[in-house]
Amino acid sequence: MFAATHIEAASKDEFYAELAQQACALLHGERDRVANAANFAALVWHALPAINWCGFYFFDGRELVVGPFQGKPACVRIALGKGVCGTAAQTRQTQLVADVNAFAGHIACDGASRSELVVPLIDARGVLLGVWDVDSPELARFDAADRRGMERLCAAFVASLEPAAAAA
Ligand code: SME
Repeated sequence: MFAATHIEAASKDEFYAELAQQACALLHGERDRVANAANFAALVWHALPAINWCGFYFFDGRELVVGPFQGKPACVRIALGKGVCGTAAQTRQTQLVADVNAFAGHIACDGASRSELVVPLIDARGVLLGVWDVDSPELARFDAADRRGMERLCAAFVASLEPAAAAA
């Protein structure tokens, strides 16, 4: 049984499906990026077990700049290609890192982090918005189901910023 705050599900896929529904409801009707990012980070922070940081880095056209998050204060700017976040942004590929100490160039913001999942945020026009980063104090905390689920959640976040979402 996979259980988390307010959500009990038979599998991680079910858990993330339920969380994605909650995210859609939470963000519905609002397009402000900071507002939606802040609520999204708070939702995930309280729903997911065994994480010590989750939040956004937004691309300012040059580098990644920290956005709304939950957890300890973090490094503010990350260059494209640097660390797990910069790699996800540059390659536009989700980075699932079972052991951050084995990832060359990992940036240690919170020394407690042992594993990490970073999803690139790309809008409908193919523009890089930034990345969504989740850290855990446990080794290999995230698996393929977390990756699928987190990508689904991030799609809901990105969709909330699109004009059609506010009109609906
Ligand atoms: N570990 C990340 C940096 C961001 S923090 O974990 C909040 C990285 O290597 O990109």
